[in-house]
Amino acid sequence: MLPTDDLKKISFTRSIRDGDLVIVYERHDVMKAVKVCESSTFQNRFGMFKHSDWIGKPFGSKVLSNKGGFVYLLAPTPELWTLVLSHRTQILYIADISFVIMFLEIVPGCLILESGTGSGSLTTSLARAVAPTGHVYTFDFHEQRAASAREDFEKTGLTSLVTVGVRDVQGQGFPEEFVGLADSVFLDLPQPWLAIPSAERMLKQDGVLCSFSPCIEQVQRSAETLRSKFTDIRTFEVLLRTYEVREGKTESSQVEGGGSVELPPCKKRVRSKEANDTNGDSSTVMVRPCSEARGHTGYLTFARLRCLVVYVERLLKDKPT
Ligand SMILES: C[S@@+](CC[C@H](N)C(=O)[O-])C[C@H]1O[C@@H](n2cnc3c(N)ncnc32)[C@H](O)[C@@H]1O
Repeated sequence: MLPTDDLKKISFTRSIRDGDLVIVYERHDVMKAVKVCESSTFQNRFGMFKHSDWIGKPFGSKVLSNKGGFVYLLAPTPELWTLVLSHRTQILYIADISFVIMFLEIVPGCLILESGTGSGSLTTSLARAVAPTGHVYTFDFHEQRAASAREDFEKTGLTSLVTVGVRDVQGQGFPEEFVGLADSVFLDLPQPWLAIPSAERMLKQDGVLCSFSPCIEQVQRSAETLRSKFTDIRTFEVLLRTYEVREGKTESSQVEGGGSVELPPCKKRVRSKEANDTNGDSSTVMVRPCSEARGHTGYLTFARLRCLVVYVERLLKDKPT
């Protein structure tokens, strides 16, 4: 996922090698994952790029086509992988993923249980968060999806951090071998309440569970099931507002007047006096909300396993003498 050196340590300086996966980046919304192969070429609207020219360059390099066009070659981080992976299911995106990792308190060394795997979008980020000593065990009942996810983790170099199992987690629960071992459990299932009793048994004392559901009815049913053994039950909806940052030319009178009637509402700032051109126009930076901002994705319900010691203490206290 991130380039590693010969000692398998994450390296931000190592160069691109034959067989590496790179993200060929044109713009934030035009990019593609490509496996470098010395004899291959990459073609886009800017011309033809020889892979052999890429080998030996550091990740992040700008490379030229036969027509003088260019692209950037970026390391396949989980953030970029989520944007380029092939969608076999609905996936989690960066805003929800970030929130999940923070609220599940995931750090290197954690053992995480996940179901379903889906397209592996969340799994790649979980894997990086637990690296280098932790592990993610992810389960999906759909054999082909599990197989495709395994192939993807192979491509992105995550096989030592992720194990994919085929299992009906709603019907069978997580495997017994994980009882009491999981630091956190993540569920993205149609009927998560069926998997919650098993998740509870898998969690370490004080472990945290998160369930992602698109509908509020699923949240209500899950919360109902969580009440008996979990505490601190909270549901969030992460709404991300993206802003467009553009350079543009505006007549100086418009800037000084504090706004233009022709332009949609946006914040404008004159970049510098030197940037003003000879016609009295100004070069400005315009910032405004993107029109196609992503709306509702789903609800994230978090709950912490009720601490057994406190629970037993309370039971003893409440016991009639
Ligand atoms: C929406 S996808 C998960 C997407 C994933 N979170 C991601 O970011 O790529 C839900 C997955 O749950 C799987 N699934 C549904 N019911 C299941 C069950 N009973 N046991 C295991 N997996 C199940 C589906 O096959 C599907 O792949």
